[in-house]
Amino acid sequence: MSQIKVDATACLRCGACVQVCSTARVFEIHDDTSVAVRPDACWGCGQCVSVCPVDAIDHDQFPLEKCPLIDRGREPTAEQLTVLLRARRSTRTFAERPVAREVVRDLVNSSRWGPSAGNSQDVDWAAIDDRARITELSKATIDQIRRFGRLGKNPVTRLVLRLFLGRELVKNAARSVRLGDEMLDRWSQGRDPLFHNAPVVLVGHTRGRRPFARDDAIFAAYNLMLMAERQGLATCQIGFFQIVLERSRKVRRMLGLPEGRNAQVILVLGYPQHPFRRLVPRRTPELTWNPSQE
Ligand SMILES: Cc1cc2nc3c(=O)[nH]c(=O)nc-3n(C[C@H](O)[C@H](O)[C@H](O)COP(=O)(O)O)c2cc1C
Repeated sequence: MSQIKVDATACLRCGACVQVCSTARVFEIHDDTSVAVRPDACWGCGQCVSVCPVDAIDHDQFPLEKCPLIDRGREPTAEQLTVLLRARRSTRTFAERPVAREVVRDLVNSSRWGPSAGNSQDVDWAAIDDRARITELSKATIDQIRRFGRLGKNPVTRLVLRLFLGRELVKNAARSVRLGDEMLDRWSQGRDPLFHNAPVVLVGHTRGRRPFARDDAIFAAYNLMLMAERQGLATCQIGFFQIVLERSRKVRRMLGLPEGRNAQVILVLGYPQHPFRRLVPRRTPELTWNPSQE
């Protein structure tokens, strides 16, 4: 349980800690001070310490020396941030240059600042920079895509597959065969159509079956992707691998995540062979105010 104390002599009774903690409801205003009445309910987000205007909260997880003041002047401007958001692209051509492990460590560290459901902070990463392992995973995945396609085209196995995977996925079997064949073709030309010959494959993983686990991982991954872009590296999410991982015990075993952990997002990382020079336009999202009710 968190140890939280409010310094009654400093507390202004402004209620900021009570209000920012409106879900866990750790604090209450008593006669002349705020009091941490339910420290057992604290989920360790640190918002109380972060918001207190007079540093009156002593929280064992958030000593003030680890919580520097936010210097708004050091934040990128909206324009600078927009350039970064627009500059990030999915890269599928990587230079033959390894990525130092400290660089990967720093990027993984930057992933932690994303939001997570209930402040779970549960996203961990596995990094594969062993070329032979990446090749093995890629080949096994392509084989599975082709196998799935073949089973889906066969009228007998198609019915069984429909029961297990549903009509929609099996309908895609023909596409899967074509895709698998194309991938194998590129593979035999010495290219890796799955991981794009990237020097590092990153797998964001969480405890299995937790609600919103995928959302947590995607936020973490996007932070990592933006930071990678800023550091002159490039990334691409690899959904194909995710799809196969979710359906193939063999590929899951080859990946070797710790027991009880599920892969939620897969990225490739490396230095771009052809850095992008121009920002391109994008569809403007529709925005509906107060959509009419049924
Ligand atoms: C959920 C998801 C899965 C994706 N899977 C793949 C993939 O398997 N292989 C690939 O080359 N790109 C993949 N991408 C990258 C998209 O193709 C890319 O984001 C899109 O074309 C937009 O381009 P941009 O990222 O350069 O802006 C994926 C992206 C997302 C969001």
